[in-house]
Amino acid sequence: MEWVKALHVLSVIAWMAALLYLPRLFVYHAESPVGSPQSETFKVMERRLFRGIMNPAMIATWAFGLWLAFGYGLVDFSQGWMWLKAVAVLALSGIHGWYSRLRKDFERDANKHPSRFFRMINEIPFVLAIIIVIAVVVKPF
Ligand code: HEM
Repeated sequence: MEWVKALHVLSVIAWMAALLYLPRLFVYHAESPVGSPQSETFKVMERRLFRGIMNPAMIATWAFGLWLAFGYGLVDFSQGWMWLKAVAVLALSGIHGWYSRLRKDFERDANKHPSRFFRMINEIPFVLAIIIVIAVVVKPF
């Protein structure tokens, strides 16, 4: 079980790194003129980050997490922190899907948001990660 936990946490690190880096790319991409060489380079970086790291890392996080929860019977929804973690994890997965749509907009040169918007949404995954880690480690309720 300790091995599965280690793999779960490593997948989480990769998923979080991608969730934090992708909006940074969006910030600079939004400031690049459509059709410019920088804009085309950002498209490649965003696609590789999304397909090569963010998607596989999310799948691995879910797979190892569900393995821990049901394979080792660690799930016990009488504990409040588990609900908090479940809600925050679903929100994080929703953000993953939302970022996928934003990335596709950039790919089609159809982004409608200014760079300030991406600077702001950049903070959301980290706030959710703080909530999740405190829920799992401190188990406050
Ligand atoms: C995607 C769905 C996820 C599922 C189904 C899941 C499930 C689980 C389960 C069942 C455990 C073992 C809990 C225990 O020791 O009692 C665990 C551990 C852990 N999870 Fe997740 N998890 C998920 C996502 C995440 C995310 C997104 C994060 C962080 C942002 C995270 C952080 C952790 C940490 C730090 C531990 C280790 C706690 C320890 O040392 O005991 N998990 N996870």
